[in-house]
Amino acid sequence: MRLKLNGVNFQVAEVGNPEGIPLVFIHGFPFDQTMWEPQLKALPHSFRAFTYDLRGHGKSEMGDGQYTVELFVDDLMALLDYFQIAKAILCGLSLGGYIALRAAERNGDRIRSLLLCGTKSEADPNETKLKRAEQIKLVKSDGARALAPLLVKSLFAPTTHEENPAVVEKIRRTIESTDPLALAGTLLAMASRTDTTASLAKIQVPTLILVGEADTITPPSPSRAMHEKIAGSKMAVIPKAGHLSNLENPEEFNRHFLEFLKGA
Ligand code: MLT
Repeated sequence: MRLKLNGVNFQVAEVGNPEGIPLVFIHGFPFDQTMWEPQLKALPHSFRAFTYDLRGHGKSEMGDGQYTVELFVDDLMALLDYFQIAKAILCGLSLGGYIALRAAERNGDRIRSLLLCGTKSEADPNETKLKRAEQIKLVKSDGARALAPLLVKSLFAPTTHEENPAVVEKIRRTIESTDPLALAGTLLAMASRTDTTASLAKIQVPTLILVGEADTITPPSPSRAMHEKIAGSKMAVIPKAGHLSNLENPEEFNRHFLEFLKGA
């Protein structure tokens, strides 16, 4: 469905039981809501799930292309408001996790539980800010097609490149079809995001942290650090997976995901 939120038309999908527990999936950069297909297929009947394309991604409008993580949280809250959802489970991967973590800090009363996948609470160190500045230059001069091979190389575990080229291809096409202005705007948003580490100790909702064993973008170590700080949180490392563990090893990801939902 199309939904106008904060002045932009969003592509949103609602699936599952309309009376079920609300669960909102937030995708990573620069992907779209279709990355959650393996989880939607496994969704238990007791849940009402929402997926959406972040502004500038997938089929959502780009707006002015100037983004902050704060704005992405505004959009998420506008989505909850539109559906009159008081509290939802948030499941975010990577950038989706940055958004979920900032939402937990800013709008904690709207969150029932948290799934943090391939993400971290720390802000970008200088080295990453500079890497993003290079990537912004690249997409502005040569477009999304120039960025795609760089990202694709680091997103997946070696086993995924060898054994599941279809998933790699799907993600490559998604990146290539993202507008360069939205890519640049989102890179700036990630580079300027705040550090949410100090708030982890205040999170009181059930939390599951999942990370691919071969994730080189957000490796298991920052996940372990979050696990230590979020009281009562659970954590699992997904074998045979890199940054996109939900797509690279959906069986193992879903095993933890579904077990967590039983108590969420
Ligand atoms: C993502 O998957 O959202 C990005 O890789 C996150 C990042 O670059 O920090």
